[in-house]
Amino acid sequence: MEQTLSIIKPDAVAKNVVGQILARFENAGLRIAVTKKIQLSRADAEAFYAVHAERPFFADLVEFMISGPVVVTVLEGENAMAKNRELMGATNPKEAAEGTIRADFAESIDANAVHGSDSAENADIEINFFFAQRDIV
Ligand code: CMP
Repeated sequence: MEQTLSIIKPDAVAKNVVGQILARFENAGLRIAVTKKIQLSRADAEAFYAVHAERPFFADLVEFMISGPVVVTVLEGENAMAKNRELMGATNPKEAAEGTIRADFAESIDANAVHGSDSAENADIEINFFFAQRDIV
């Protein structure tokens, strides 16, 4: 069983669509192994997105990710990472396919509702960033 990390970002939490988004994961056959709502600190957001530190959008991304609480979830299932990415749609909601989470709930490339791990290696790193192994059941 593959595991992947999902973050429901501050825009989607503020819209009160956490349940609707989690239901999409479950309806697609993914299982919620663990989930929690947290407020990221600036240091958390900078560390989580360290891979983007040199990109021009990094400062705005960090500001946005600390603008309100997020919901972090470990999703589990067959091809969990690919399935989650399909459900999310393209990073830019304007390019996201109809019926995807970003097409339905996101406003812009910054406020794009959800994050999902983009490789097995990153999934491991991102899951360990937020959760202890004993939390994941
Ligand atoms: P996410 O999957 O969380 O990974 C990095 C985030 O940076 C991305 O979603 C977007 O919300 C944000 N971002 C802003 N501008 C860009 C860009 N030009 N390319 C990629 N990601 C961007």
